Amino acid sequence: MAHAPIVLNDPGRFKDPANLTWERYIALQTRERERYLTERATIPQGALDFTTVNPRYLERAIEQFANNYFPEQSATRYIATAAANAPFEELKTCCLFQLADEQRHLEMDREVFERAGIPERDWLPAWEQPGTTCRFFRHVLELEDPIEIIVKANFVAEGAAGPGTFAVLADGAEARGDILSAVNHRARVRDETRHISYARALVKALVEDDPGNLAVIQRWQDESLRLFVEVAKGGTRREWWEGFLGSYYKIALPLGLRPTSLS
Ligand SMILES: [Fe+2]
Ligand SMILES: [Fe+2]
Repeated sequence: MAHAPIVLNDPGRFKDPANLTWERYIALQTRERERYLTERATIPQGALDFTTVNPRYLERAIEQFANNYFPEQSATRYIATAAANAPFEELKTCCLFQLADEQRHLEMDREVFERAGIPERDWLPAWEQPGTTCRFFRHVLELEDPIEIIVKANFVAEGAAGPGTFAVLADGAEARGDILSAVNHRARVRDETRHISYARALVKALVEDDPGNLAVIQRWQDESLRLFVEVAKGGTRREWWEGFLGSYYKIALPLGLRPTSLS
């Protein structure tokens, strides 16, 4: 692995906020799976088959489905890299639990694409067009430094796209009859919240370890948010974008980070 711009000299400063062991993680995910299956069992067949979902919604939803599916697929890969390169055990464990979470999210999103009858050859082109999350995730997939991956992907991207925007996406899908996407978003948000909180604990530990680390984290934030700007373009996503920045700054500013200038 190439040079690591920042390190946590005292790993004892980092504690998994969820305090998970493998045993607790498996128990937690068993409960989550039961809860998910119970909610999924209430979805009417027409919604599951996408026959009662507005066809015009479906045409426009392909890009949204791609913006769900490929980030989850990317997450399984970059968090595996972070786990492999993790500098200490407690962080490695957090990454491995997250890897299992992201794999389930990926499978939920694959089911949406398949049930909606969208041919697989159309998935990637929908994500590679301008205005998607593709540029950001392709950047993260090139990284090897586990700290940079977790700061950019978990702290910045999930911190921004976390609770607020998944609620907006769930409500939007449900209003158009796409109950499966709504149930999926509400299920994944519980895991994403945990991914954000361990990244936040890592950033806090890094800044306490050496206040000079803040400048590097600021640069990573600026790089990340600038790669996301294009997703906000077109005005239609204005509300989503404001929620995106708002959720992120709520966790970032108290740690000493400044808003990124986005022009
Ligand atoms: Fe995920
Ligand atoms: Fe996640």
